[in-house]
Amino acid sequence: MLTLGGRGPRRGNSLSNLALIHDGALLVRDGVIAAVGTRAQVEALPEAHAAEKLDLGGRVALPGFIDSHTHLIHAASRAEEYELKIAGASYEEIARKGGGILNSVKKLRAATSEALKSRAMAALRQFAAQGTTTVEAKSGYGLDVASELKILRLHKELAAEQPVEIVSTFLGAHVVPPEYRGKADGAERYLKLIEENLLPEIGERRLAEFCDVFCDRGAFTVEQSKRVLQAGRQWGLEPRMHAEQLSRTGAARLAILLRAASCDHLQHVNKSDIRALGKSQTVATLLPGCDFHLGLKRYAPARALIDAGAIVALATDYNPGTSPTLSMPMILSLACTQLRMTPAEAITAATINAAYALRREKQAGSLEVGKQADIAVFEVADYREIPYYFGVNHCWMTVKRGRVIHGVKQATL
Ligand code: NIG
Ligand code: FE
Repeated sequence: MLTLGGRGPRRGNSLSNLALIHDGALLVRDGVIAAVGTRAQVEALPEAHAAEKLDLGGRVALPGFIDSHTHLIHAASRAEEYELKIAGASYEEIARKGGGILNSVKKLRAATSEALKSRAMAALRQFAAQGTTTVEAKSGYGLDVASELKILRLHKELAAEQPVEIVSTFLGAHVVPPEYRGKADGAERYLKLIEENLLPEIGERRLAEFCDVFCDRGAFTVEQSKRVLQAGRQWGLEPRMHAEQLSRTGAARLAILLRAASCDHLQHVNKSDIRALGKSQTVATLLPGCDFHLGLKRYAPARALIDAGAIVALATDYNPGTSPTLSMPMILSLACTQLRMTPAEAITAATINAAYALRREKQAGSLEVGKQADIAVFEVADYREIPYYFGVNHCWMTVKRGRVIHGVKQATL
């Protein structure tokens, strides 16, 4: 059992500390972990005698994965662009021709709430089947008041109607929407719409916890991003950012300056950004699924970030344009082979550090007394086999707040 107990978030060498217990056991009461230790220790507790017992048969148990960056709600894939990319078109070329994010915006605006919801429901079942128990979900394919609110309301409904925990993020500043493009003050007018119409509604109705911005070439500048994130904070939304994905803009520096919860992507950070992230509380979230899917060679400098002391996290970035995967085990495989992280570092980045990136470190991310019983169980003999195998799903059981949400036994712990 990998408990990930102890001090978090983890930096540097401590990323390798999984707080492993051989022949471990947990006692769960009302969905919360009441005791943790070796099987002998836990079985000796008076309360354990009356407890329902679930034998995991010597498999590997760890905290459920926390996927801290997804674009959960979208209407359809962009498989048509996948072929263009394989033929040599770049992500940015496709975007400039009205494909990319705008393609997904067109599809989302035309979709009903019901259709979006059933697609997301199916995805959430698959997240659970791969060992994920908490998912951050961003809006950002609506980009008008009605469509952005439609997405954020769906986050709330989904959170109430199925077991995977959803952390809602407003990404109104994903790109400038089509109806504002090509006009001299288009971006300015859209930013006003975010500040004056969207954020007040989202803040008052508590439709999101975080505000995100895509700060990059072809999206929003550092100045514009700062303005949106500061406006979001006025409404109680904590900042997080898409940073340094396609080019180096200074976005990561802004994230640090604003004490953002995380800055994500980071393929193009420079040495001084890496040093600054090493000293900051802003989590450096790496999304290797994007480089893999886009066929790019430039992965984020994970080793340098870890050496500098950054709080490194990993996420899928589940989205139809750059990373159509909802498998954290696949992301762990990429983290090991492409980012040169060790299996232990990757697991830490996908659990306790990711919990910190979502401000859930008191409730989730490790198997410790008082935390939610959010557990993933893998049909492997050694935890290193979780990233070692790829393209197969060895997740045997997933438990959320003490309830089995995926696996053979639909029992309650
Ligand atoms: O995280 N970079 C911006 N957002 C997404 C991609 C969105 C899309 O292409 O639909 C990302 O990579
Ligand atoms: Fe993203």
